[in-house]
Amino acid sequence: MSEVVTLERQGAVAVVRVNNPPVNALGVAVRSGLQNSFNAAEADPEVKAIVLVCDGNTFIAGADIKEFGKPPQSPSLPEVVNEIEAGSKPSIAVIHGTALGGGLEVALSCHYRIARKDAKVGLPEVKLGLLPGAGGTQRLPRVVGVEKALDMIVSGNPIAATEAEQLGVVDELFEGDLLAAGLAFAEKLIAEGKGPRRTGERTDKLEGVDNAALVAAKRAEIEKKTPGLFSPQRCVSAVEASFTLPLAEGLKRERELFAECLVSPQRAALVHAFFTERQASKVDGLPADTPVRDIKSAAVIGGGTMGVGIAMCFANAGIPVKILEISEAARDAAIQRARDTYGMSVKRGSLTEAALEKRMALVSGITDYADLADVDVVVEAVFEDMGVKQKVFEALDAHCKPGAILASNTSSLDLNQIARFTKRPEDVVGLHFFSPANVMRLLEVVRGEQTSNEVLATAMAIGKKLKKVAVPVGVCDGFVGNRMVFQYGRESEFLLEEGATPEQVDAALRKFGMAMGPFAMRDLSGLDIGLAIRTRQRQTLPAEYKLPTILDKMAEAGMLGQKTGKGFYVYEKGSRTPLPNPELPAILEAASKEQGVERRTLSDEYIIERTMYALINEGAKILEEGIAQRASDIDVIYINGYGFPAHQGGPMFYADAIGLDRVYARICEFHEQLGAWWKPAPLLEKLAKEGRKFADL
Ligand code: 3HC
Ligand code: NAI
Repeated sequence: MSEVVTLERQGAVAVVRVNNPPVNALGVAVRSGLQNSFNAAEADPEVKAIVLVCDGNTFIAGADIKEFGKPPQSPSLPEVVNEIEAGSKPSIAVIHGTALGGGLEVALSCHYRIARKDAKVGLPEVKLGLLPGAGGTQRLPRVVGVEKALDMIVSGNPIAATEAEQLGVVDELFEGDLLAAGLAFAEKLIAEGKGPRRTGERTDKLEGVDNAALVAAKRAEIEKKTPGLFSPQRCVSAVEASFTLPLAEGLKRERELFAECLVSPQRAALVHAFFTERQASKVDGLPADTPVRDIKSAAVIGGGTMGVGIAMCFANAGIPVKILEISEAARDAAIQRARDTYGMSVKRGSLTEAALEKRMALVSGITDYADLADVDVVVEAVFEDMGVKQKVFEALDAHCKPGAILASNTSSLDLNQIARFTKRPEDVVGLHFFSPANVMRLLEVVRGEQTSNEVLATAMAIGKKLKKVAVPVGVCDGFVGNRMVFQYGRESEFLLEEGATPEQVDAALRKFGMAMGPFAMRDLSGLDIGLAIRTRQRQTLPAEYKLPTILDKMAEAGMLGQKTGKGFYVYEKGSRTPLPNPELPAILEAASKEQGVERRTLSDEYIIERTMYALINEGAKILEEGIAQRASDIDVIYINGYGFPAHQGGPMFYADAIGLDRVYARICEFHEQLGAWWKPAPLLEKLAKEGRKFADL
């Protein structure tokens, strides 16, 4: 047998055990270990049933993603699962943790499945740009029917064990010891004389339903929701084969479609997104034994838009949190806003009333700094004004216990200056949440010049506890995400001055895959935010850095976005649907005239280049300055904080995919045609000339 898969006999039951940390992925050693173990159990006349069980935190969590793109090694997973299913002795998969992708496919090839009550099962391949390639698209519909199989395979979302039991994906739920449960189930089968029950031979769930109509409806839904994605329609085609072709041919069709996905650029980008999200949490140079402080209680200063959302993040993680406000009225309003926001989740059905009360019991309001004496971490989220921040940090320094983490949620102010307002700058760190803080996954962890290793490690651990994607960044105006988005915003406004419309720019970028177009986004966050930044930039940027004037003109006309019902689009009362703003063309024309620009027709391709290359050029500067540790961290920030499409891998991955020589050449042209702000980043120039990629750094 192999080291990662072992076989032992317990009476008449063969126990096949997988032990391949961290997640028992199906690398070649596991595949051949499974094949050998099942074959040996099949050949052993004493064995009457086979139990498959996994060590560690989880059942098999899928194929080994690290093997994608490398030459395939035998045995293949389809071969292994087909052999397991064909076995003549009843086999039982004992599921705990997560049976995902290839893991669930192995379980579906076993003749019976039992699951621990807290387990989850699913086929998330679509999230990696793939489809289930080891029989999942043929066997799952045979167990749950085409409609549910399409839901699970096209969404990629796992289901809980309880639902899996209701659907018949698992036969029984259990609590406690895995092996004991597996052996008990096996012995029951032996006693009852039950033999193999092969999923592949079933057709009952495929009959009596208009499966073709279900397929057509799913295709139309995908076309509407995610037209640019490669794998979802192929998932549907594979499921379609489950009821139009016999099993063997269906499996062949699935394999062909899987192979198409495997070589698609989207698959490479999505796997990049998967691994780099995990890599981002690792801070270069931070010793592995850096102590992490215990965080049992928290406080937030300022219960405004961000403060309330941040407090909810702590409550969601089971950490008691106090919100400090300037008055009793403001304090009570903040608490009420937290309750109302949870209330909306209750209304939507994503939270129970009991869970709301449990979370609200963790949130309290205060107005006195003396009440902060015992908290482990404080996050300041008051107005973006250095004078106000100074007062707050001086008060925190005076009242918080030694060792408390003092964090700021500032989005643009100098964290080093903020740290100097205290006598313990080593305890000060930035925790830059994104709005709405209780929803957005991204957290930029800002390392000040004096932030200690221990505080940085604790801040990263807090991010993990709050279920955020925490990415370490350095201090500069806007950190990584906002600093880059300034460039993106400026270019998109210039495009309007040059002849494009908000509708055209938004549509081109949505087609590229952005969750929202830049102008719909500006309307949502309010034009005043962008205008304040522009005004500050006019004072700080060198004179040759031209800035668009559209925001100023719109603000003068009272167009501040959704909050005034009018911005780049107009919004009917109570609606968030953007409609064309009939007053905008005149403003755009006036801006073009003022800038001396002849309005012209711009192609979608040009729109993508101008906006994306602006991001890439700034990203290269950020990397060179060491503000981000790695190019892939920038990708993680953009995917998780700015709606950048994961299937494009993030701006830096996208640049590598185009080729840095091409990107550099185009940026040189923009520099010549448009102005000084397009000066290519020296790092980009260097890499382009050396024929290297950001990923090589
Ligand atoms: N292959 C290789 N490595 C994997 C992996 C996989 N399938 N899944 C996770 N890992 C690695 C992670 O990269 C991480 O490595 P690191 O410690 O070096 O950073 C480590 O395992 C732990 O992962 P997480 O940090 O994500 O641990 P969590 O406990 O938070 O989550 C999990 C565990 C839910 C299993 C999550 O890792 C996950 O969702 N994994 C991916 C599952 C998946 O997509 N499976 C389908 C694969 S495609 C497939 O099966 C094709 C088939 O149909 C042919
Ligand atoms: P906000 O104006 O909604 O809330 C600020 C709150 O702080 C108000 O409720 C105010 O009463 C309170 N406050 C002011 N001075 C105080 C003091 N001395 N002590 C206690 N409370 C005080 O502001 P918002 O949007 O929540 O922003 C807060 C911080 O978060 C700013 O630094 C901002 O740059 C940052 N930020 C904002 C984001 C956003 O999208 N709004 C995103 C990320 C960061």
